[in-house]
Amino acid sequence: MQKLSMLYEGKAKRVYETDIKGVYIVSYKDDATAFNGKKRGSISGKGAINNQITNHLMQLLAKEGIPTHFVQQLSETETAVKAVRIIPLEVIVRSIAAGSLSQRLGLEEGTRLASTVLEFCYKRDDLGDPLVNSSHIKALGLATEEELELIKRYSLAVNDILSDYLAKVGIALIDFKLEFGVTEDGMLVLADEISPDTCRFWDVKTGRKLDKDRFRRDLGDVEEAYHEVMQRLLGRS
Ligand code: TMP
Ligand code: ASP
Repeated sequence: MQKLSMLYEGKAKRVYETDIKGVYIVSYKDDATAFNGKKRGSISGKGAINNQITNHLMQLLAKEGIPTHFVQQLSETETAVKAVRIIPLEVIVRSIAAGSLSQRLGLEEGTRLASTVLEFCYKRDDLGDPLVNSSHIKALGLATEEELELIKRYSLAVNDILSDYLAKVGIALIDFKLEFGVTEDGMLVLADEISPDTCRFWDVKTGRKLDKDRFRRDLGDVEEAYHEVMQRLLGRS
């Protein structure tokens, strides 16, 4: 497979066109940003770790019936994926209060929610990715009603599958962010990444944070936490 021109460069990944129709290559970077790009840094080895964790979890989800963009891992930092049009929504699923939910609703971090919370943010860096609801999504034409129903169903299923799976390696899935895309033949699939950049992972026994909050909040041992998650999920760091 030949990597052709770069289509898009995001904060943590680059996306390239390829010589194969309907296939892109995603290349993961070590660059890290937080707070809509206001905080910048680099986490050594993060690109390789997030690529491999994402692929591992996407393959697990595919086996459980969730369609994903995953095609084939090409190297430690590069993966072939189905070409999609990304739906401009960040879908956030929460089981335990943390981060912006705790701030907005005055809930102590670590409070178990009585039921799962599903949130949508409109992917617009210039607006700071504002929270939107189903009627905004419909009114702005961000997704069709059918797409939104599928997105909700898949997101809740991903939460069930990943929570059970991660619990087996001593990780509590606190919350996470998903993105979906539509392939050239019109299929809605899970896209983007599922990694310590996009999930909150807490050690079940100690409550230690094993995710990007270590970078966001200057907690130290950032690389070590990413390696720890990789080790627990793939048996190698
Ligand atoms: P939040 O509590 O800051 O809203 O974050 C909720 C979840 O979404 C958390 O697991 C981190 C993830 N997330 C992203 O993946 N990208 C983002 O830009 C933000 C703000 C959060
Ligand atoms: N990656 C996002 C940014 O740079 C936010 C985050 O993950 O906290 O703004």
